[in-house]
Amino acid sequence: PIAPMIAPSILSADFANLAAEADAVSGPGPSRADWLHVDVMDAHFVPNLTLGLPVVESLLKATDIPLDCHLMIDDPGRWAPPYAEAGAYNVTFHAEATDDPVAVAKDIRAAGGKAGLALKPGTALEPYLAILRDFDTLLVMSVEPGFGGQKFMPEVLDKVREIRTIVDAGELRLLVEIDGGIHDGTIAEAAEAGVDCFVAGSAVYGPADAGAAVAALREKATA
Ligand code: DX5
Ligand code: ZN
Repeated sequence: PIAPMIAPSILSADFANLAAEADAVSGPGPSRADWLHVDVMDAHFVPNLTLGLPVVESLLKATDIPLDCHLMIDDPGRWAPPYAEAGAYNVTFHAEATDDPVAVAKDIRAAGGKAGLALKPGTALEPYLAILRDFDTLLVMSVEPGFGGQKFMPEVLDKVREIRTIVDAGELRLLVEIDGGIHDGTIAEAAEAGVDCFVAGSAVYGPADAGAAVAALREKATA
């Protein structure tokens, strides 16, 4: 794996102060976020509703941290490419939400973004191995998508170990990202399994000092 990347999830931030919340993890040094993780939910694919393209467009103007958009939505073929066009660095959608993930990935890349494939905890990796060459990121969900603050599901680390082996063998170029229940007590175990990029919502924006939380997580992931 590469040096650990930390992606604070703004799902746990103050939605009325997103620019300030981004600034809180934009300082220099180890407290600086590598990506800002933006959870887009449509109240259909998941039973929760958050934000969409207009908020992402505003956030792009408010921060220079690359945006990692995690689309928990139906019909990503229709809705995902505009996030890349707007300037999101990484656009991740769910395998369970489309019959043609490769077409969606190609459209995201054509629009200038990196493409990510997300798997819910119960979704197997095997059926998707053959298409991962069309992706830049594999996001392994370690909670059921929809809400922050849930308990980490260690059983998904089997998928992380499997993809790590394939990537390390040089068969694929792919960042391995984990999302859900990552905090001081779980990040080392995920790092050991081979995660490159760690999403953390409540563990970063719960504490008073979000930057210090990023640095602490980075430290634990490196150990
Ligand atoms: C859950 C979201 C996560 C969420 C993680 O559906 O995809 O990104 O913000 O929150 P924590 O880190 O609190 O589990
Ligand atoms: Zn997420």
